[in-house]
Amino acid sequence: MKEFELKNGNKMPALGLGTSGLRGKECTQVVKEALELGYRQVDTADMYGNHRAIAEALNESDVRREDLFITSKIQSEDLEYKKLKKAADRLLNELDLKYFDLLLIHWPSPEVPVEESLKAMKELKEAGKAKNIGVSNFTIPLLKEALAAYPDLITVNQVEFHPTLYQKELLDFAFKNDIILTAYAPLAQGEVFENSVLKSLGEKYDKSPAQLALRWLVEKNIAVIPKASSKAHLKNNLEIFDWDFPIDAAREMELLDQNNRLIDPGYPNFD
Ligand SMILES: NC(=O)c1ccc[n+]([C@@H]2O[C@H](COP(=O)([O-])OP(=O)(O)OC[C@H]3O[C@@H](n4cnc5c(N)ncnc54)[C@H](OP(=O)(O)O)[C@@H]3O)[C@@H](O)[C@H]2O)c1
Repeated sequence: MKEFELKNGNKMPALGLGTSGLRGKECTQVVKEALELGYRQVDTADMYGNHRAIAEALNESDVRREDLFITSKIQSEDLEYKKLKKAADRLLNELDLKYFDLLLIHWPSPEVPVEESLKAMKELKEAGKAKNIGVSNFTIPLLKEALAAYPDLITVNQVEFHPTLYQKELLDFAFKNDIILTAYAPLAQGEVFENSVLKSLGEKYDKSPAQLALRWLVEKNIAVIPKASSKAHLKNNLEIFDWDFPIDAAREMELLDQNNRLIDPGYPNFD
């Protein structure tokens, strides 16, 4: 599995399993299958309500804890200092883990200063409860605010990113500040399968639109966390590393951007 190095020297698998929408027995089964196939990163969040189901899969798996990379996220109502610390302990308990590999602020809040949440997260890191700290859905102005408060703390920004939402300015800013982007909804929640350019490139190179989209992102040093629930999809999404990315596919995919944002709750201002 290809890995990206974070600014603190720690490594993060370039591909992980997204688990939004997976719950209960189905979630446990999918995570188990993913681990058997070779996935090592699992992305979850308090909001997904599946920590216990994931814990069951992790506990039943033979994969050593140090080889896993588990990401979870603090939801908006828990961003105040004390609440955040309490929430982190609860999430660890639900996941049956001693530490997160990556703990993220799920969404920025207009009410709680980011400095306050980051202070709590820094202390969680110092206490060994999170190996790496990051944010999600942060725009450039919000990243600047976070970097001004804690210049070395933030290693990752998890954002919506796919060929029809090519956030080049954000990617450049992240690169300059040694922050890795993780693409959520990397398959545009299934829309890549309807894209005529991706379909014809897929036919030409015998790859699925999912594989082309994921590889396009990884080529840009963006980590990907596609959600899949069937073994065939899990396997398909994993097989993106062992072939050359055709130059004409890369070139054509640069032109697919339509500012096609699928997730926008109104804050932050993405325009
Ligand atoms: N930080 C945030 O605010 C945030 C927001 C949204 C999502 N996320 C994270 O990002 C993850 C991924 O995003 P997402 O779930 O919204 O969308 P996505 O990964 O772009 O798309 C998932 C959809 O694609 C299908 N699919 C996956 N692989 C396929 C393949 N090889 N062939 C055909 N269909 C395939 C899945 O179907 P099946 O299920 O049938 O396989 C599912 O319907 C989430 O699960 C979550 O972990 C984070």
